Amino acid sequence: MIETERLLLRKPQLEDADGAAELLADPKVMHWLGGQTVPREDVPAVLAKWISRWGDNGCGPFSVLRREDGRWLGRVGILVWDTRDAWTHGTFTGSGEFAQPELGWAFASEHWGQGYATEAARAAREWAYGDLGVKRLVSLIDPANVSSQRVAERLGATPGETIELFDNGPHVVWEHPR
Ligand SMILES: CC(C)(COP(=O)(O)OP(=O)(O)OC[C@H]1O[C@@H](n2cnc3c(N)ncnc32)[C@H](O)[C@@H]1OP(=O)(O)O)[C@@H](O)C(=O)NCCC(=O)NCCS
Repeated sequence: MIETERLLLRKPQLEDADGAAELLADPKVMHWLGGQTVPREDVPAVLAKWISRWGDNGCGPFSVLRREDGRWLGRVGILVWDTRDAWTHGTFTGSGEFAQPELGWAFASEHWGQGYATEAARAAREWAYGDLGVKRLVSLIDPANVSSQRVAERLGATPGETIELFDNGPHVVWEHPR
């Protein structure tokens, strides 16, 4: 569990389904995350996948809650990619030297414009470089996703090469300072 000034970051739980459903049904969010919104009945399976990533990698997405009222706002966290050929989902053990952790963020659009993504991502990055002990942390951002680039810039990340994601086309690799 990680606490910031306004937020609480913790591992996702199946009880997060109502909050996660808002995010996953939001076309303005899902446009950048594969394009498809998720119907309510499929939300528990998505949450189960998020939870299973923690078992596979010792890291994964955190649920982000507002401390003031416990409202579920979004998710930030670490996804592991396998960088051989087109980038695909991987694990630290299965992908070995080709494993690349990514810091990602997504919030339901009702919660945009309040600095929550930057505040949560900064805390998750500190955790990844500290407790998790990753050597290099990147964010993969669609060149057209201006809001996400602005989060990366606020975090002091810098854009580098463009790579091809197996399911989502070209993305710029943003490097995070330690
Ligand atoms: C990317 C995304 C998380 C950015 O959300 P965001 O709300 O714009 O980003 P932040 O939480 O950092 O908020 C920053 C904004 O809040 C404003 N803000 C208001 N109150 C603030 C406060 N107390 N502290 C900091 N910033 C504050 C800032 O001025 C800034 O506004 P601006 O962009 O108009 O200058 C959001 O657009 C999203 O979820 N998109 C869909 C999913 C996605 O694209 N994910 C990334 C895939 S690579």
